[in-house]
Amino acid sequence: MDYKFEENVLTLYLEERIDSHNADNTELNAQEILNKYPNSNIVIDCKNLLYIASAGLRVLLKIGKQAEKMSIVNVSRDVYDILNITGFTGMFDTKKTMREISVEGCKIVGAGLSSTVYRIDRDTVVKVFSKRITLDRIYNETASAKKSFVSGIPTAIPFDVVKVGDSYGTCFELLDADTLSQNFMDYPEQFDELTDKYVSLLKQFHSTPAEVGVFPDINNKYHTWSKGLKKFMSDDELQIIDKMIDAVPRRSTMIHVDCHSRNIMVQNGKLIFVDMADVSVGHPLFDIGAEYFHYCILRETTFGAKLIFGIEPEDELLPIKVWEALVEKYFSNVPEDKMDDVNKMLKYFGCLRCLIMVAKHSQMENDSALELINRQRKDLLPYYKEAISLFERADEFFI
Ligand SMILES: Nc1ncnc2c1ncn2[C@@H]1O[C@H](COP(=O)(O)OP(=O)(O)O)[C@@H](O)[C@H]1O
Ligand SMILES: [Mg+2]
Repeated sequence: MDYKFEENVLTLYLEERIDSHNADNTELNAQEILNKYPNSNIVIDCKNLLYIASAGLRVLLKIGKQAEKMSIVNVSRDVYDILNITGFTGMFDTKKTMREISVEGCKIVGAGLSSTVYRIDRDTVVKVFSKRITLDRIYNETASAKKSFVSGIPTAIPFDVVKVGDSYGTCFELLDADTLSQNFMDYPEQFDELTDKYVSLLKQFHSTPAEVGVFPDINNKYHTWSKGLKKFMSDDELQIIDKMIDAVPRRSTMIHVDCHSRNIMVQNGKLIFVDMADVSVGHPLFDIGAEYFHYCILRETTFGAKLIFGIEPEDELLPIKVWEALVEKYFSNVPEDKMDDVNKMLKYFGCLRCLIMVAKHSQMENDSALELINRQRKDLLPYYKEAISLFERADEFFI
């Protein structure tokens, strides 16, 4: 049996068949290799496997028992059926063989910070990820989109993860649509209607209960992301950031985490979310506050509003108008005398989100990272106590 060992992952390559004739031999062979690399994570690579009988499945179980974690990859459709019927797909993370597709000559329908999206046929797009995005993250995003769809969130249906040249991609249902950002620019006369729909979509998201354990917890995720600031910020500064994250109350409803208008499509007048990579459970402040960063802070930086609108909007105040309408409509139930506090809370959260953007995007040039961080050394960190007391009151404002 061929194998490789890299970064505590032992990959075993199964042969064409494992049945009653060769199961014992396969087991002996595998055991010898496992003895050399005890306590590793095991990947069973089935790229050569055409058939597996029950004797073979027993061997896999024995191997699985010795692994910290075992996954089964490159599984053909036929073998996948066997693993599925016998419950193996529930016990071990199991991935089918990836289809290989080409995007040569295909039209680009969109792009973001992590991907380029191509239309590959009448009904399907493929989101081709940049090389720095790990396969694990791609599978996570695909699973997150599926779970969101099943929870009733309007979003494009994801299909399989595929290989595109030497990159990976996910196929999605094609939304024959423009982004909400593009709609804001193309149809100024519909601004009121579009912002109404934007707010309803967000409220729907924020009132959807998240099944326990299905989506990650956003406070924890922010803590993990904020570690990416270590190379730029002092321990004292990082502690302040942790305290601010802890100040936001927990909630058991869903949030998108990146709900700007370039991650929403308008199809036949209906708003539909894309880019479900970070969907989480948590307080809606993480969504709405983040938009202060996207609509109000970015346009004052070298990134510009282009990041959220695809191009710099001709009306340079458009991002601010979107922001003001969003706040007015989302918080329409909040008494007028509390709106100053609401606005301050959102602004501070947007500043925190600005730091998290740097933390999330390790590929960012140092100059750009420092530009965003130094802004927050001026606009947020000196006022962190006020920010914390406002974040702690978030439930008063998000009714
Ligand atoms: N299912 C889809 N149908 C049509 N266009 C899409 C679809 N998914 C994404 N897009 C387009 O591609 C752009 C980038 O996709 P997105 O998922 O936001 O990638 P990123 O993670 O790189 O931001 C979107 O802004 C949108 O214009
Ligand atoms: Mg996006």
